[in-house]
Amino acid sequence: MTVPESYSFTRYLSAKKTVDDRALNRCVWGELARRLDALQANQETRLLEVGAGIGTMIERMIEWNALSRADYLAIDQLAENIAAANQRLPVWAETKGFRALPKTADWEITSAGCQVQVHFECADLFAFASRRHTRLWDVLIAHAFLDLLDISRALPVLFSLLNPGGLFYFTINFDGLTLLEPVIDPLYDEHILALYHRTMDERVTEGLPSGDSRAGRHLFEHLRRAGAQLLEAGASDWVVFPTTGGYPGEEAYFLHFILWTIEQALRNHIEIEPRRFQRWIEERHAQVERAELVYIAHQIDFLGRWDG
Ligand SMILES: C[S@@+](CC[C@H](N)C(=O)[O-])C[C@H]1O[C@@H](n2cnc3c(N)ncnc32)[C@H](O)[C@@H]1O
Repeated sequence: MTVPESYSFTRYLSAKKTVDDRALNRCVWGELARRLDALQANQETRLLEVGAGIGTMIERMIEWNALSRADYLAIDQLAENIAAANQRLPVWAETKGFRALPKTADWEITSAGCQVQVHFECADLFAFASRRHTRLWDVLIAHAFLDLLDISRALPVLFSLLNPGGLFYFTINFDGLTLLEPVIDPLYDEHILALYHRTMDERVTEGLPSGDSRAGRHLFEHLRRAGAQLLEAGASDWVVFPTTGGYPGEEAYFLHFILWTIEQALRNHIEIEPRRFQRWIEERHAQVERAELVYIAHQIDFLGRWDG
């Protein structure tokens, strides 16, 4: 695919789905699925996903048979993501052989052995958590989300939404390693990626620190300090590579978007000479066009229990 002229975040999230499908750690997933089976055998299980984007995790959880009797609320702060989620869910359901019945603004997804109520809501996590909720949730999901926050501030807020004994599934937490192959210039490549990681550590949102380029490894200690019980953890690296037919699905777009993100993060960086950086970015995009670029990002998934 040629270099896009403009970029769409919702298209990126859609393109990311197949990359995440491959990446998610199957030991962590297996343990979650076993526990969800046990929960849903007894009662309708309430799941809350925060920073849910366009709803690809709900689709995956239904497609991978993790949900049978569940009520799933997905929140995201961006209205365009929630609109995209409401648009794509019925289309996805039809192609996968489920029935999606609109229930006012919400959905009921059904098939033999599966009845899942889905609600999408445009809300900021911190504002949502500060509201009074008559019922809390049994399972909390945060996918490709925690590394955008100040984790030590966010964890108590997140856990305040869980019933005692509730499960948390925190996935795709970036952990400080980006690899781009083939190498263009070993020292320069390393310099650019180190500066890129530093921008994640220095990110400030609404005056507060928000981000950690080593969120994955740091989560072990954050979770311990927050009093959570870890049940399973494992690597969930993104590994994007071309095959003889090019990149699968929309993964060429995913790669162009990642390169654009690096460009946006570093474009006015004081330690970067603009023309050399521009040539480097252009060569990376050209590698995607020639189906040569291999991209690896190290990440970690967690499953745990919150006993209150
Ligand atoms: C990297 S995206 C991941 C989205 C989705 N989980 C996925 O993987 O497809 C992070 C998402 O978190 C959302 N987000 C960021 N800060 C948020 C906040 N404070 N409250 C709710 N959503 C937030 C963004 O709008 C974005 O959709």
